[in-house]
Order: sequence, then C-alpha cells, then structure tokens
Amino acid sequence: MKECELPFPVAAALQFPRQARFHPLKFARGLLDVLRREGVRIYENSRAVALEDGVTVTRDGRVYAKSTVLCTHYPFVNLRGLYFSRIVQSRSYVLALEGPPPLRGMYLGCAEDGYSFRSCRAADGKDLLLLGGCGHKTGHETEAAHYEKLEETARRLFPGCTVKYRWSAQDCMTNDGIPYAGRYRQMEGNIYLACGFNKWGMTGSMAAARVVARLIASGGEETSVFSPLRSSFSLQAPEFFRQAGDTAVNFLKGYFSVPGRELSQLLPGEGGVVDYSGAKIGAWRDEEGGLHAVDPVCPHMHCPLRWNGEEKTWDCPCHGSRFDADGKVLESPAVHPLSRRGPD
Ligand code: FES
Repeated sequence: MKECELPFPVAAALQFPRQARFHPLKFARGLLDVLRREGVRIYENSRAVALEDGVTVTRDGRVYAKSTVLCTHYPFVNLRGLYFSRIVQSRSYVLALEGPPPLRGMYLGCAEDGYSFRSCRAADGKDLLLLGGCGHKTGHETEAAHYEKLEETARRLFPGCTVKYRWSAQDCMTNDGIPYAGRYRQMEGNIYLACGFNKWGMTGSMAAARVVARLIASGGEETSVFSPLRSSFSLQAPEFFRQAGDTAVNFLKGYFSVPGRELSQLLPGEGGVVDYSGAKIGAWRDEEGGLHAVDPVCPHMHCPLRWNGEEKTWDCPCHGSRFDADGKVLESPAVHPLSRRGPD
C-alpha cells in the first residue's frame, strides 16, 4: 500500500502524470474570444426543435447548412439512430468543502459508487475541496438522500469541514462507455454527432471536435473508435436491454399509479403527482403558497414524470429530460415545455 495524500488508504491506483487543471468558465470565455476574432457568430436562446431533411428547425426560423453537428448534450432527434436507447442520463452531486487541506492531485474512485476529489480556489481566494459522487440514473432516486450521503462522507473523511456550496450535474452515459463522435447515421452523411462523454465532457468534447472537424473537412470514411456507427452490439446489448426494460417498467408504473392525495392537501413546500377533479396533475405549492401545476407527462416519448423535491424539478426516468416547476425544459431530449394544468 502506497502513501497518498487522501485521508484513507489506497490499495492500487493508475496515475496519469501532467494532467491539466483549469477553470471551465475561463476556458469557455477564451474559446469565445477566439471564435469572435475568426468572425464566427453565436446565437443563444435558439433551441433546435427538429431536424428536417438536414434543415435545423428552431422556434424563430430554419437554419440551412452543408453540414450539421448535433451537440445538444442528448440528441433531440428521436427515431433515426435510436440514440434514446443507447444513452442513459445520470445525475451526480458535488460539495465544495471549506477546511480540508488543498490536494496536489485530482482523484477519481473507479468503483461504481466511487468518489472524486479535487481542490479549487474560490473567488474570495479561499481553498475549497470539491467532493463528488453518489451518481444515479436521472429520475430514479430522491436527491435529498444523495446530498445527505455525500455530506456524511465529507464529515467522516474531513472532520470539522463545512459545506460552502453544493450542486448537481447531469451527464450522458453511452452503453459501451465510449463517446459518440462522427456521422449520425450511415444514410445521413452530412449530419454529425458529438455526445455521450460519460462525465468527461471537458476532454471528450475536445477529442470529438477534432474527430468531427476532420471528417467534415476531408469527407472521408469513419474509422475512429468514437464512431456512432460502430458495431459493438455485444458490448452494448446488456445495457440496451436493461434500458428498454427499465423504460417499460417506469412507463407502466407511472401510468397505473394512483395519486395518494388531492391538490387541496398539498402544503407549502410540497410537490408531486396529485388528484385534481379526477385527473392526475403535477403540482408544487411554493413556500408562499403559490401553485405551480403542469401535466406530468414527458413530451419526448410520453413517460410519466417524477417530482424531484430537492431541486424543484420534474425529472423523466425514461431518458432523463428535466423541467422546472412551471414546465420549462431544463435538460433535453425533450424540446417542448409541459402543458399547464390545474385551476386557472
Ligand atoms: S426523456 Fe424520453 S420520455 Fe422523457
């Protein structure tokens, strides 16, 4: 067993020397500066809602291009490519801790429920330790339990530490653990895909950009290990069937469940699926007593949604779309908001 700066013994580890540690927002701003200097125009708040014969449809207009790259976190095009059965969305949690000594390295536990550790410096100059973990499939478990578990681990490993901040993240995981970067589908040669970075978005996106740019520039053949057209069915099959079974179970469970209470019984701060005049609606009563009520069915492929009381969102257990309490889309593949329901 080797000595290590982590507060527990490490039986074995794989080391990657000379890793870069950088601030993602500063990095993104640098990229923006480069793009602007090159004359690239960026249009924010232009959600793509469909792809029709290679034309991208947004709510405000249509975008024509020789080549289109789908890098919308999760592909929003449904049937072509069947990516909804090849990618699972996962949520994970991070605590920023004050008190633990800064770490020289960055560490990632390789067990399925392993933790990650890295230091960072806050805007006020204080050193913080970022403890991440407790990942699970989106819409499948209650978030409060995960924050509690992470805080318990923080107190055990770093007695006396205080939690300064906490947040959660959502990642796309491919069935075989390898990102998708390349042609979207054999039949559609000028549509490309970059997604499924399996929690390694900062590095995976850089590699994907190179792969896709090279393919577009050369018009060449797909040879990369990242190719979305790869035939690795034996690797992907167990997860494919697990995902299909899971989707079916969630679908049926949600449709046949009966709400445990009526809308009028919802107290301030509470949310969930309730009965309103004989219909199932999704409702959250905010702390001031205001009602936020929606149709709790995902517009992507009609899966019943679950209330996430910790983050005040509606989460889809089938493919991981998320919506705020008023139905606005937070995470794709859904592109349309939830309909409003309940009393006017
Ligand atoms: S994200 Fe596919 S049904 Fe909800």
